[in-house]
Amino acid sequence: MTNLKSAPTIEVQDLVFGYPEQKPVLRGISFTLHPGERVALLGLTGAGKSTLLENLIGLKMPQSGEIRVQGKKLEEATLSQARRQIGFCFQDANDQLFMPTILEDVTFGPRNYGVPPGVARDRALSLLDEFGLVEFANRSAHELSGGQRRLAALAAILALEPAILILDEPTNGLDPSWRRHLAKVLSQLPIEVILIASHNLNWIGKTTQRALVLADGQIQVDRQTEDLLKDKSTLEYYNLPPDW
Ligand SMILES: Nc1ncnc2c1ncn2[C@@H]1O[C@H](COP(=O)(O)OP(=O)(O)OP(=O)(O)O)[C@@H](O)[C@H]1O
Ligand SMILES: [Mg+2]
Repeated sequence: MTNLKSAPTIEVQDLVFGYPEQKPVLRGISFTLHPGERVALLGLTGAGKSTLLENLIGLKMPQSGEIRVQGKKLEEATLSQARRQIGFCFQDANDQLFMPTILEDVTFGPRNYGVPPGVARDRALSLLDEFGLVEFANRSAHELSGGQRRLAALAAILALEPAILILDEPTNGLDPSWRRHLAKVLSQLPIEVILIASHNLNWIGKTTQRALVLADGQIQVDRQTEDLLKDKSTLEYYNLPPDW
C-alpha cells in the first residue's frame, strides 16, 4: 500500500513563465516539497520569487511545465481545491486586506468556506490576540501601521487553517520581537509544508531547514539552510551577503 504521508506535497516540473514581451523570468524550475518540510526561497530582488509563488497557487499560469499540489495537477478544474489547501500571504499585505475592518478580513475566508459565524469570529479574535491586534479589531487595515497590517494579513491566512503555507516576505515591516514571535507561531502550526520567500537570512535560518536559491530563472542551490548560511562563498557568489 502506498504511504500517502510520504507522497510529495508540491511538485514543480520544468516550469517556464514569462511576462508578456519579456524574456522568461522562470526558465525551467523543478523541485519537490515533502510533508514536514520548512523551506526558504532565496534570491535577489527581481529574481522571480513572487512570480514563482504566484504560479504555485495558480494566480499566474506557466507557459510550460507542470505543478502538482498533493498529487493533483494544477489546472482550471483543480484550482479551487488547491487554493483551499494553500494559505498564501502576498508580499504586499494591502493585497490581502480589503474589508471595512480587520476582524472582517480575518473572518472573511473561513465564512466563505462555510465556517459558522460564531466559530469564525472566535478563531479570528484568538488570532488577532496572538498578533497583538485585538484592540484594533474594528479598525480598517488603512488605519494600521505597516507591521500591524502584515500581522493582520498573516492572521487572515492562518484563520483558513491551510494544509500548506506559502509566505512572500512575511517579516516585512516586523520588528525583531514580532519576527521572533512569528517564528514561534510558525513552529507550532500543524501544517504540512511551509515555503517562505525572504531576504532575511538570519530569520530563515531559524525557521527553515532547507533553502532554494533562485537565480537566472532557475533553482541554482537546494541545500540545508544551516549549511548554506555557513557557506559564505556560495552566498557571496549569488550576491546574498549574509550580514546585510
Ligand atoms: N506584472 C508584471 N509585469 C511585468 N513584469 C513583471 C511583473 N511582475 C514582476 N515583473 C518582473 O518580473 C521579474 C521578477 O519579479 P518578482 O516580483 O517575481 O521578483 P522577486 O524575486 O519576488 O523580487 P523581490 O525580492 O523584489 O520581491 C522582475 O524583473 C519584475 O520586474
Ligand atoms: Mg517578491
